[in-house]
Amino acid sequence: MAGPAPEPVHVARPAVIGYPDRFSVAPGEPIEFKISCVGGGEFQADVVRLRNGDTNPAGPGFLEQVVPTPASGSYPARTQEIRTGSAVLVRDGGGLALGGSGTVRCYVQPTTPALRDQALVSRWDEAIRTGWWVGLSGGRLTLRLGSGSSVHETATDAPLYAWTWYAITASWHGGSTTVRAEPVLNSTNSLWSPSAGLVAVTVGTGDGAPTPAEADGPTVLAAGWNSSTGATTGHYNGKLDSPSVSGGAGADTEPLARWDFGAELGAGWYASDRCTDVGPHGWHGTCQNAPYRGMTGWNWTGEEENYRHAPEQYGAIHFHDDALADAGWDTDVTLVVPDEVPSGVYALRVSYREHVDHIPFWVLPPRGTATAPVLLLFPTASYLAYANDHTVSEGPVLQSVLGHTSVLAAADLHLFEHPELGRSTYDQHTDGSGVAHSSRLRPIVTMRPGFRHGTGSLWQFPADLHIVDWLTALGIDFDVATDEDLDAEGTALLDRYGVVLTGTHPEYTSARMLDAFERYLGAGGRAMYLGGNGFYWVTSYHPDQPHLIEVRKGEAGCRAWQARPGELHMAFTAERGGLWRNRGRAPQKLFGVGFATEGMDHSSAYSTLADFADPRVGWLTEGLAGAAVIGAHGLVGGGAAGHECDRYDLALGTPAHALLLATSAGRHSDNYPLVAEDIYFPYDGLGGTDSAQVRADVVYFSTGGGGAVFSTGSIAWAGSLAHSGYDNDVSRLTENVLRRFADPTPIEPLGID
Ligand SMILES: [Fe+2]
Repeated sequence: MAGPAPEPVHVARPAVIGYPDRFSVAPGEPIEFKISCVGGGEFQADVVRLRNGDTNPAGPGFLEQVVPTPASGSYPARTQEIRTGSAVLVRDGGGLALGGSGTVRCYVQPTTPALRDQALVSRWDEAIRTGWWVGLSGGRLTLRLGSGSSVHETATDAPLYAWTWYAITASWHGGSTTVRAEPVLNSTNSLWSPSAGLVAVTVGTGDGAPTPAEADGPTVLAAGWNSSTGATTGHYNGKLDSPSVSGGAGADTEPLARWDFGAELGAGWYASDRCTDVGPHGWHGTCQNAPYRGMTGWNWTGEEENYRHAPEQYGAIHFHDDALADAGWDTDVTLVVPDEVPSGVYALRVSYREHVDHIPFWVLPPRGTATAPVLLLFPTASYLAYANDHTVSEGPVLQSVLGHTSVLAAADLHLFEHPELGRSTYDQHTDGSGVAHSSRLRPIVTMRPGFRHGTGSLWQFPADLHIVDWLTALGIDFDVATDEDLDAEGTALLDRYGVVLTGTHPEYTSARMLDAFERYLGAGGRAMYLGGNGFYWVTSYHPDQPHLIEVRKGEAGCRAWQARPGELHMAFTAERGGLWRNRGRAPQKLFGVGFATEGMDHSSAYSTLADFADPRVGWLTEGLAGAAVIGAHGLVGGGAAGHECDRYDLALGTPAHALLLATSAGRHSDNYPLVAEDIYFPYDGLGGTDSAQVRADVVYFSTGGGGAVFSTGSIAWAGSLAHSGYDNDVSRLTENVLRRFADPTPIEPLGID
């Protein structure tokens, strides 16, 4: 018997969200905030200095301080929209607004052919259904001609298969129409082997088609156009290669335009937003929402895996309907940072109705200066890699990784309901391919103080505030900078500081960042790597658009996806992607430790080892002499060794003179397995209860020129700093190291025993 309808469940979700135009800003410079509210009225904006973002009642709680600035005040609320979908827009001045005859040719590899109508090449206004449109409808290659008063369609007999390359032609002349899709499978370029005999030519013909009227708008590749919204529509999932448009219908008609996507992978070897038209008119296209370039084309043979070595086989762009590179919102609040505001991590706190959002940003010291001997480097490339991750709602393996039920936050529901906020590099696109780009020009609802990750604990930005809170509690002055600053400025940034502290999980690292650390450490610099699974994935910032990062995951590592064959090289810098370890730069070489295991059931303590009592580091263990165990407490999993852990490993480049001070070996459950890159043959016994390789190690060593490195090997470490009023073993050890590292007196070289 039917009962009463259940009460709807209401979950508090942010009614106000926003993002800044930049992550870091120096005094005297402007930073612009773009805000969207769910309705009208007004929102209140204030600048706050962030100290702690962990609401766990066992810790110090959420700590922020209002900073008076001219930006504080009320602002009119409005709703701003986000349009996802990658495409290429061509401003042809009407030159491709073909009338009574035309031909479109292209190589296409659709990846979701039956999903809905998707435009391949079009000069079409969806608002009034006018112009010409070549796309997929019901999975079939379809030519659509609209005169303004009628629309005529011609479709192939059979639908197109996903992940299969076809040469397509659509042409019209005197009311007659033809569409044809011919498979161009080779042994490597498509999902199926040609030997399976599954894919055949499919055609369609029609007559009585009207003459298409001129559509108002651009020619668009991989989408259509809607003049009523002034935006693209009907986005395509899949690859295009060598599209061309001709003004006639014969096979020998010269193209009016032909775009060579491989051309931009030429001289500079990186992908710009420009798509070169090699036809007679030079109607070059411009990319929207950063589609993937440097992708295998219709004729890829598998003999080369680097697009630089065979650019003629990398003429494809892969488009996605959910790609987002720039939300493109208008500015609501502008802050010119007052000179007296000290370097630190801040947020614009925006309040609307009963909702509050914190939009983090970093205030640098005045350009080219340091205002403290200590630099806290925030791993913003890693924040971007994880930005708006859908792992709780869509990651099928997450609960197995966590070892417990995923914790669902309001932000996770918000992301699930608003996919237009874009995805993280832990997610898949609509067609199942991995997300390789991430942008900071969009609201990032997971990069917020107070956000609790699916682990139930803190992750990335809010976890790094544990370090801010600890430094503040101890009265240690520090400056801040971001990965983006380090990538742009290099060693010069680090050289201004006596000691550099990392965040808890600096996993995504560019070549320029690694180079900067290497030079700094070799010339007397000191680093405290206060995290786990750091310096792991090869990551690139876009040369012209530093709000974008790229990562191509593959072949090894704890990876949410794997680049398709031949697509491990990044388009932003032409580097081979994947793990730094596989490019000869294992994290152990610079920081003494590297990724060994991850688990999220609970965090452990460390056992001290013989090196802990080495008289040469008596300053380091001061107040801790005789301690057998360290870090049996913490706000991240209940211990200092956990979540993601790094190991001392001489075979991977830990310097021979490094001291192994403490280890969590033998203290982890089997929720902590050995990482994939360490496993050659899989067998039983590779979990934390059996494997001696599964552990977090605390390591110290001297570097050239009086420098040194201290590494904790664990994401959870920083969550243990605040225990017992900041008076505990983890805090003591970290403080001992920091105070010595901040002292410019050269550090005694250890040498090999
Ligand atoms: Fe990670």
